[in-house]
Amino acid sequence: MGGISGAALAPAQQHEPSAAARLPVFPDPTQLDPLLSDFLHQTTEQLCRWWADSAHRSPLPLLSVLPEVAPGRQGLSSAALLDDLQLVMDGAFNPVHPGSMAHLDPPPLTASVAADLVCAGLNNNLLAEELSPSLSRLERSLCCWMASRLGLGDQAGGVAASGGSLSNLMALVVARQQRALVGLDQALVFCSVDAHVSIAKALAVMGLSASAMRPIAVDANGALRLDLLAEGLDQAEAAGLPVLAVVATAGTTVRGAVDPLAPIAELCQPRGIWLHVDGAIGAVFGLAEAQAARVPDLGVADSLTVNPQKLLGITKTSSLLLLRQPEALAFTFATGLPYMEPSWAEAHGGECGLQGTRPAEVLKLWLGLRQLGLEGIEQLLHGAVSRCAQLQRLLAPLPLELCSGPLHLLAFTPEWLDAPASDLWSQQTRQRLLERQLMLSRPQYRGRHHLKAVLGNPYTGSAELEAVAEVVAESISLSPFC
Ligand SMILES: Cc1ncc(COP(=O)(O)O)c(C=O)c1O
Repeated sequence: MGGISGAALAPAQQHEPSAAARLPVFPDPTQLDPLLSDFLHQTTEQLCRWWADSAHRSPLPLLSVLPEVAPGRQGLSSAALLDDLQLVMDGAFNPVHPGSMAHLDPPPLTASVAADLVCAGLNNNLLAEELSPSLSRLERSLCCWMASRLGLGDQAGGVAASGGSLSNLMALVVARQQRALVGLDQALVFCSVDAHVSIAKALAVMGLSASAMRPIAVDANGALRLDLLAEGLDQAEAAGLPVLAVVATAGTTVRGAVDPLAPIAELCQPRGIWLHVDGAIGAVFGLAEAQAARVPDLGVADSLTVNPQKLLGITKTSSLLLLRQPEALAFTFATGLPYMEPSWAEAHGGECGLQGTRPAEVLKLWLGLRQLGLEGIEQLLHGAVSRCAQLQRLLAPLPLELCSGPLHLLAFTPEWLDAPASDLWSQQTRQRLLERQLMLSRPQYRGRHHLKAVLGNPYTGSAELEAVAEVVAESISLSPFC
């Protein structure tokens, strides 16, 4: 091999003990390279040590040192690269810590991590089949399996997207195409006031005005109010305003509420309105028979967002957009790929969504699900909802407003605090919790700040939950407002 393609580059002098230890910059296509194997081994060893030490650090790191950002004149040795990596790792958020319960970011599934490494090493491209022959088929097949398991039917399928926001955007673009509303800037989208901000973002990207979004109030459980939705749809019809879609949420961001999907579908179907279900948080509960009743009737959706990254531990990003009629994807997004051989199936991956070049995110999803098995999935989900119920029991005697739902999220704030007082109380309490290595988040909900616990971390045990309740009780008693 000549030049840069296979040989090691001259590394920076100060980091290079001997020429023999030079890391090849590309894998050798003719033989196993012991230096490369050693480098990857050391990298994974460093990562394993980072995990192993997680419980002794805190969920949020202290101030950390950033390595030099710009590339030096000469490339670095493997030892220097690993030192640089370590500096960034030292400043990283620590999802494996048992006190990490702030967000929808659980510890990573180990098989998913391995698949991510292999995905990078294969460097295939889900744009087109000749760039990812086995992986394109795997993505298509896994989407079909997932869609059918979640009740969307035997013809259902979908595509992987880099995150739930993108899946939601693509769903609404498909809905607009299917409803033949392309070009109209007045089409409406109904969703609950608790729907995720990505819906508003999608409408802005689609060139719709902010008034296109029609937020519907929720009931005491945080679920969209059907009577108000029916009223809104009737008013739109009477005013001659077309409805692009209704977006129902299966698992709202702050409290994990689930909208009544089947009754919403009954309102949509006779009117010919597209029903998108944002199941970024909750849809995975539909994978386990014993948990599926928490998110009933997912199968009534025309399109469904699922984010296995949020609870199952599939490494980021991992989101699927599933459709009862997946051919609507290519119908909406296909432009032709004149620089590629034709697709061996219905359409190239790059014609089934907004992304062109895509990593094979399906690999870590597939391997992670295979690692868990259906029983493992059920255990993860069961563990999450059990921890949520336990924390709810521990907090119940306190004078708190508790906001939850059927899933694994719980938000709370003292009953009597007004908006400024809830802001201050939640800041102080979060700080007290962090001092005990317990990390909760601090969302605004119904005009007041809450503390929110997401109980998807399998390492969070009774000790952490009891400590949260203790700190919260103490913080209430210390508050000048209480
Ligand atoms: C209900 C819901 N939908 C969509 C999203 C967006 O997902 P992502 O962050 O993967 O873009 C979130 C994020 O938290 C969410 O809570």
